[in-house]
Amino acid sequence: MNALNKLDLQNIPRHVAFIMDGNGRWAKSKGQHRLFGHAAGVESVKEVIKTAREIGVSFLTMYAFSTENWARPSDEVEGLMNLLVDAISNEVDEMHANGVRLVTIGDIKGLPGNCYQSLLSAIEYTKENTGLTLVLALNYSARKEILNAALATHELLSSGKLNIDEMSDIEFSKLLDTKDIPDPELLIRTSGECRISNFLLWQLSYTELLFTDTHWPDFRRDAFIDAIAAFQKRERRFGMVSEQISNQ
Ligand code: IPE
Ligand code: IPE
Ligand code: MG
Repeated sequence: MNALNKLDLQNIPRHVAFIMDGNGRWAKSKGQHRLFGHAAGVESVKEVIKTAREIGVSFLTMYAFSTENWARPSDEVEGLMNLLVDAISNEVDEMHANGVRLVTIGDIKGLPGNCYQSLLSAIEYTKENTGLTLVLALNYSARKEILNAALATHELLSSGKLNIDEMSDIEFSKLLDTKDIPDPELLIRTSGECRISNFLLWQLSYTELLFTDTHWPDFRRDAFIDAIAAFQKRERRFGMVSEQISNQ
């Protein structure tokens, strides 16, 4: 059976966010170095992007490196940065040909110079594309993002550019790294951990959370389609009662 038959194509989430976890455990289970798992994880990213384009998801956010991940052994951090640069240089032409627009959230200036430069040029190269938007979360911390928005609010208020009674959650959202990106309808975390790990704390307020035991390198097209099918069975109530939703 074509896996797509499981899906209601009229109810595809516009934005799906991923905490790509389990590369290290996947590699260990095969007696390999952790970096072998990260390299395999890049293949999952490519397949998830392809599947998202196929089913009509408009935004994909991928948590690729947290501010906490700097605490990992330095060879792993270096390996991850090299993989990022290689993945961008290998994939940017195909991404561009497929209409994919690359954007980032997080403090990319804090990445090594070659990573920063290759990201900047890929962002510039793909900026007019109108297909899928791929959001890479790099050197990202949700708390820092919220704190920066709070400081920006202070600046707007104290300079008189904004009145305090004009401030709202919508205005505040415009000060986050995600200002041009709708909130995700679905968050998927692979590899069994049921936590958020400092990811999109503001934006996930009403997101459906889906945790799967599958390690990220094994999370491919069918797993993604199954996750969306599971999302489609959920009732999103937004504080209302079930009868109100079914009458809409
Ligand atoms: C996720 O896999 C990738 C990054 C955090 C960069 P992990 O490297 O966290 O894999 P586990 O959790 O150790 O298995
Ligand atoms: C979260 O995974 C960060 C990324 C996927 C980039 P981690 O593996 O770093 O999360 P914790 O530390 O186990 O919560
Ligand atoms: Mg992990």
